[in-house]
Amino acid sequence: MNERDSEAVAALLRGRGYSIVDHEKEADVVLLNTCAVRDQAEQKAIGKAGHLGKIKRRNPNFMIGIMGCMAQNRGEALIDRLPDLDLLVGTQKFHRVPEMLDQLFASQRGLGPRPSTLIELGEEKGSEETIKDHTPGERKVSAFVSIMQGCNMHCTFCIVPKTRGEERYRSMEAICLEIEELVANGTKEVTLLGQIVNSYGMREIPYKKGKSPFVQLLERVHDIEGLERIRFTSPHPRGFQKDLVAAYGELEKLVPYVHLPLQSGSDRMLKLMRRPYTVRRYKEIVEQLRAVKPEMCLSTDIIVGFPGETEADFAETQTVFEDIGFDMAYLFKYSERAGTKAAEMEDDISDEIKEARNQALLEILGKRSLWRNQQLIGTVQEVLVEGPAKRGEHLYTGRNPGNRKVIFPGTERLIGEMVPVRIEEATISTIRGELVLAGV
Ligand code: 5AD
Repeated sequence: MNERDSEAVAALLRGRGYSIVDHEKEADVVLLNTCAVRDQAEQKAIGKAGHLGKIKRRNPNFMIGIMGCMAQNRGEALIDRLPDLDLLVGTQKFHRVPEMLDQLFASQRGLGPRPSTLIELGEEKGSEETIKDHTPGERKVSAFVSIMQGCNMHCTFCIVPKTRGEERYRSMEAICLEIEELVANGTKEVTLLGQIVNSYGMREIPYKKGKSPFVQLLERVHDIEGLERIRFTSPHPRGFQKDLVAAYGELEKLVPYVHLPLQSGSDRMLKLMRRPYTVRRYKEIVEQLRAVKPEMCLSTDIIVGFPGETEADFAETQTVFEDIGFDMAYLFKYSERAGTKAAEMEDDISDEIKEARNQALLEILGKRSLWRNQQLIGTVQEVLVEGPAKRGEHLYTGRNPGNRKVIFPGTERLIGEMVPVRIEEATISTIRGELVLAGV
């Protein structure tokens, strides 16, 4: 989501005549887009901004801005810590960045008073529709498309409702128009983005023939000619109803991959986290998905070391994690966020225990991922070619429907094409194969 927000700001800036450079050393302005989900992310951004502040002291014309969730979360207090900041931009004000920069540059040229830090942290009605720009002329084989902003859930560990506000949805028309333009520019795959995508349009757009607004949106996106694959992230287990499961059977562009955050395998923990489902219900969704698409790939988010997580709770998570068998997982050590409900509980699990629990899950994940990757050996995978591989001459990379990266010898001409690749080698991190050539 942050990547998409940054991309939209960059597109707006380009439209205003600014150019994006490859390295911060060449830049007149550095904007840091930030995350507030865990303390580590915030500390990293603060460290980086502090470092940039040193450059500014040598070159007063150099400008630094902080955008996004940390700006929203910490507000003006950030300026006490980082007095060199020129801009502070909240999550509903990304589209204001070009004007703010214009103002700063005008004052630099002596055309206006030198403002102290420019601050935009307010809420703005309609701001959800402003994350829509892509750089004209740039071909993105796979593109992110924001369909909504904010979150109405109240997970006790999570800062996002504070940083992103209440749920606001873009119109289906605007979303489809954006995708049509992307496709006209060569995009073959989109990932629909939202904090909880299956809440899309809730209580605003009526159900139609038992289909939720999100499934209606998927159907409309599916109708866009030239688009080949649809992904989305993330759905919430609550509200993962039969219509969405059925969509996997009906919409062939919908890839057999789902990122479904579990958070914990202990019902007691889920309750404390205020996640309104049980492990049993989660498993039921997985079973339903696998019944519709046996090849379904699954990934998840897990938090270890939430306050009060006992060995028994964690053992349940381990068992469930192993039983379900995830292709990918993002494992997080619980990080206390001021202002959340969980911050009122004691962060009583030591770092050592959090680390050990993290490692234990990583081990399970590693075995499973390797096994799943090795299952692909000998199969022919449909790969959407994204570009040259990072290393190796004439090697190209793309993804299979299950979102696995596949490397194979190819040519530039194949970028943006769906090609059949026979898988020959698989490790935990890399899958390699050869193009299957028709008639050869
Ligand atoms: N500590 C650790 N992980 C967290 N996440 C959200 N809040 C926290 C926190 N306070 C994780 C959740 C979520 C993912 C995006 O980040 O697993 O799904």
